[in-house]
Amino acid sequence: MELKIALLSGDGIGPEVTQQAVKVLDAIAEKHGHTFTFTKADVGAIAIEKTGNPLPNETLEICKNSDAILFGAIGDPKYDNNPDNAIRPEQGLLKLRKNLGLFANIRPLTTYPTLIHKSNLKKDVIKGTDFVIYRELTSGIYFGEHTSSSDGKTASDSCTYTTEQIDRISHLAFKAAQVRRKKLTLVDKANALETSRLWRKRVTEIGQQYPDIKLEYLFVDNAAMQLILKPTQFDVILTENLFGDILSDEASVIAGSIGLLASASIGEKTALFEPIHGSYPDAKGKNIANPLASVLSAAMLLDYFSLHDEAEDIRIAVEKSIELNISTPDLNSTNHFSTTNVGNFLSDFILDDENTFYNK
Ligand code: IPM
Ligand code: MN
Repeated sequence: MELKIALLSGDGIGPEVTQQAVKVLDAIAEKHGHTFTFTKADVGAIAIEKTGNPLPNETLEICKNSDAILFGAIGDPKYDNNPDNAIRPEQGLLKLRKNLGLFANIRPLTTYPTLIHKSNLKKDVIKGTDFVIYRELTSGIYFGEHTSSSDGKTASDSCTYTTEQIDRISHLAFKAAQVRRKKLTLVDKANALETSRLWRKRVTEIGQQYPDIKLEYLFVDNAAMQLILKPTQFDVILTENLFGDILSDEASVIAGSIGLLASASIGEKTALFEPIHGSYPDAKGKNIANPLASVLSAAMLLDYFSLHDEAEDIRIAVEKSIELNISTPDLNSTNHFSTTNVGNFLSDFILDDENTFYNK
């Protein structure tokens, strides 16, 4: 298969981690006889510096003309500390999601047996956890009207959902549940929010088309607690944009490191694959960031094109690296490996040449 991949490595550790994902995809291409071509484009703070725009037109065009997008990370503290700044790196990602109609963000969470003891949570609580979050990605409070009064004393962000926006992701989530453990939990705040009541109504109705799926409802405050109290109860979690953002960071504690969580954003146009983590500015250029979230995002990319054996090759290599403790400091504080080392191990392992790594 030939795939044109737009490479938007972005800010902070983005370039370092995506470089490992590219390495791994190159190994997959070599092993399975595919051709993956990568086209680099700027997004985020780096794009603002070069062009004044966090999502230059050229980048958007490259994305639209590609089969998939591999995204690194976005954000720079320079902008966080200056809230008056009208242009922010994050706008690049939000505009990209909106422009490409990427309304469903899929964030799977699994536990690795050898990492169970690394989580801050008790191993009996997290053992066997395996769920996926379906986060609505192009509506809600992120994309509502944002205002601030001229006297600087009032600000507002409005949250809107239409039935169409709710329905399309809900169907995807129900279908995902059908090939999993057949349970779907809608997370909302229907005791306080009108948008949440609409979600509940629609999802209940849509649920009737999926009688094989057990549908449950949780208020988001309770869901936040249940996630760390008994994470094994979840199979598919369906939720709106902001709740999904918050809950997925929380969920990463179960896995042991946020550096492990990958995601796929799918919808109308070119799908995008990215780690859930941010740009981790303190680690930039130090070769210590965990590349696994980016590498596992590349595996999701392959799955999206039905290259399941190839995706599985990546997952097996990742599991092996974790098992052998060939890990960055977030997972291996005593005798850690660098970002590049981990990437080299994975690509060598995929090419069935584990020994090359040790002899390097
Ligand atoms: C994420 C990130 C983004 C979001 C930021 C960078 C705008 O936190 O992908 O989870 O909030 O969606
Ligand atoms: Mn987030």
